[in-house]
Amino acid sequence: MSMSLENLIALSQARTESLFDFYLKKAAMPAKSLQESMAYGVLNGGKRIRPLLVYAAGTVVGAEMENLDAAACAVELIHSYSLIHDDLPAMDNADLRRGKPACHKAYGEAMAILAGDALQAFVFQILASHPNQLSANQRLEMIAVLSEASGPFGMAAGQALDITIMDKNISAEKLLHLYQLKTGALLTASIKLGMLGIAELPPETRSALEKYAAYIGLAFQIQDDLLDIESETAILGKPQGLDIANNKMTYPTLMGVEATRKKVQNLTDLALDSIIGLGAKGDILKKLAEYLLRRKL
Ligand code: IPE
Ligand code: IPE
Ligand code: MG
Ligand code: MG
Ligand code: MG
Repeated sequence: MSMSLENLIALSQARTESLFDFYLKKAAMPAKSLQESMAYGVLNGGKRIRPLLVYAAGTVVGAEMENLDAAACAVELIHSYSLIHDDLPAMDNADLRRGKPACHKAYGEAMAILAGDALQAFVFQILASHPNQLSANQRLEMIAVLSEASGPFGMAAGQALDITIMDKNISAEKLLHLYQLKTGALLTASIKLGMLGIAELPPETRSALEKYAAYIGLAFQIQDDLLDIESETAILGKPQGLDIANNKMTYPTLMGVEATRKKVQNLTDLALDSIIGLGAKGDILKKLAEYLLRRKL
């Protein structure tokens, strides 16, 4: 039985919110202010694209939803932590996130830094210990995938490169490599985590989904840059035009808006080509890629 994208989105959001409720609201953490700032940085809306990718990939390979929950929760917590830190004055200096004051605006910089630190470690506690039917080996692989995608070989490396390039002469290739690290890594990890929801997979399926993820991941950041130029603060829920205000080198500033639009379409087409071999089983991923292409925030 295949599921519609609308149903998968609803299911993914409901499961993710109930996991956050359990791990962030109901948990008895010893430092209340830390718990509140962590919850604030996570429970503030957000499209929840990464959990959706986990559940979508898991659905394609036939994993049980219960065996995807820890991963869906984990990747969104890492992403939320990355946004809390990304908004800090020392980084992008953004006051607004998901339509509300950024975490450091609500709780102060020191607590926002700690909220990010705590979320990051908490994720690996959850992956190691969340009750489900995953084997110790599957859990270990999930931990390996997510730590690699978040740390010095993934998102953190991309963020470091992002704050060091001010050079207008950077090549598009180098910029795309940075995007692949800062944003693509976590989106690709989401797909990989979904695939780890079952123990064994045909290598062709694995490689098709990984290619799809890599293209979607790049397209996602390039589109985020376009939205920074073309959308509105009220829709985005974060300050429109901030990249330009921060003198940030982005794909559209380097290549122009028209070429950027084409690039997003082209990467989406490549993502769709990657999963042709899956046949009807890949339909949900096709719809998801088209849904991401149409997004306005
Ligand atoms: C924003 O990510 C930051 C990027 C990596 C481009 P999202 O667009 O997924 O933000 P939320 O989670 O919906 O707020
Ligand atoms: C953020 O890129 C990527 C992260 C790893 C957090 P941006 O700085 O463009 O994300 P937004 O636009 O603030 O959401
Ligand atoms: Mg940034
Ligand atoms: Mg930012
Ligand atoms: Mg951005």
